[in-house]
Amino acid sequence: MNLEEVDASAWSSLESAAKDPQSGFRFINLCSVDVAGRPQARMVVLRRADTAARLLDVHTDTRSPKWLELSRNPFVTILGFCASTRIQLRLAGTTRLHSPGSDLAEKAWSELSAWTRRTYAGGPPGDELSDDETVPVVAGDEASGKAFFGVVSFRAESLDWFELRRADNRRAGFEYSHLGALVASRWINP
Ligand SMILES: Cc1cc2nc3c(=O)[nH]c(=O)nc-3n(C[C@H](O)[C@H](O)[C@H](O)COP(=O)(O)O)c2cc1C
Repeated sequence: MNLEEVDASAWSSLESAAKDPQSGFRFINLCSVDVAGRPQARMVVLRRADTAARLLDVHTDTRSPKWLELSRNPFVTILGFCASTRIQLRLAGTTRLHSPGSDLAEKAWSELSAWTRRTYAGGPPGDELSDDETVPVVAGDEASGKAFFGVVSFRAESLDWFELRRADNRRAGFEYSHLGALVASRWINP
């Protein structure tokens, strides 16, 4: 594979992951910086990938700490690893928050299953539960979660691609323009 093919295959894996729950990059690590300047990381489900624009979308509860963190500091790293291909993708870029009621949040909500919608209907993420309440009591119906449902849209500015092999690991770096064009690529000593 040449550099352009490596980049294309990385983004094709991300597009597959957004459609296929079994795919290696389905669960990715969204890493942000909190208000105290400390690193934060959490797993999220990759919901949409758009190679042309270099966008990745994830869904979250707007009452969660990450939403506040990202509203103050949009710089994010997304880290993924596929165990079957042994490829690590480390993408750096910025996020845009699509609040409840925005076009993107409305569209994404309309495509969610009732089961997933219900996960937004409980109390705020991070709130303490009582000892006899290890699973939150969901008071409202599935529609009530819509008021807390947001989409985090991440635009990649660069990709650090790493393939773990027995003897000869490979690594490459890619940079993207604001419009998503590949503007620089190079092999890197792993
Ligand atoms: C496999 C997996 C997938 C997850 N997917 C999501 C997700 O898509 N969106 C989300 O907000 N939280 C998701 N979570 C929960 C987050 O990792 C995190 O615990 C929660 O969102 C609170 O994060 P925060 O306190 O940094 O805001 C997932 C957790 C796991 C283990």
